[in-house]
Amino acid sequence: MLLYEGKAKQVYSTENENEFIVYFKDDATAFNGEKKAQISSKGILNNKISTIIFEMLHKEQIETHFVKNISEREMLVKKVEILPLEVIVRNITAGSFCKRYGVEEGIVLDEPIFELSYKNDAYGDPMLNDDHAVAMKLATREELQFLRNEALKINEIMKEFFLKMNLKLVDFKLEFGKDSKGNIILADEVSPDTCRLWDVDTNEKLDKDRFRRDLGDLVQGYEEVLARMSN
Ligand code: C5P
Repeated sequence: MLLYEGKAKQVYSTENENEFIVYFKDDATAFNGEKKAQISSKGILNNKISTIIFEMLHKEQIETHFVKNISEREMLVKKVEILPLEVIVRNITAGSFCKRYGVEEGIVLDEPIFELSYKNDAYGDPMLNDDHAVAMKLATREELQFLRNEALKINEIMKEFFLKMNLKLVDFKLEFGKDSKGNIILADEVSPDTCRLWDVDTNEKLDKDRFRRDLGDLVQGYEEVLARMSN
């Protein structure tokens, strides 16, 4: 049964009450849904790439919702309740950070920046700080501390992982969920839809900015990321 439909994915219940199926669609959206397209095979690529990243993170002792890949477009995951927070980490300036603060793109930051947004399309996913999140009962202080530590740990692991493929991890967005025992684990997807990835030598963008900013064929970029992962 379809439980939830997002911009790029659907979530289905299964016979096992502790598991869901995530279905990766071909829909691409940007600027809070203002720009839309169907990009054939994007869902297949994101499912494959997310699978590789979740498996890699699992080996590095990061708990995720990933159980197994069950088809080209489907992933079996642990049932979690998604926290209404987007957790963003930035290593190099890009995107909304440049726009918001009038900073040039491509500046390597001395330390990673940890950022939170309220996951709410109607309000344009506004950025918020810990006090806002606590006041709105989106998470507790302890949970926020955990999210920060976990996101920064994941950043170090993923930075190294992508660098081996000659890719710079510019920034990325994570979503976390709470399992039946109240543990917070990494959920959603980790793919070129949610990470900015630039070639180390040329700075060629191999992520969703190709769609957002018409920088070239999206599928070709994602295929390149997958090919480098598979080598
Ligand atoms: O747009 P912005 O610069 O804030 O995005 C930071 C990172 O978070 C980018 O890698 C982007 O792909 C990701 N992101 C996302 N979903 C959102 C907002 C941002 O995956 N709703």
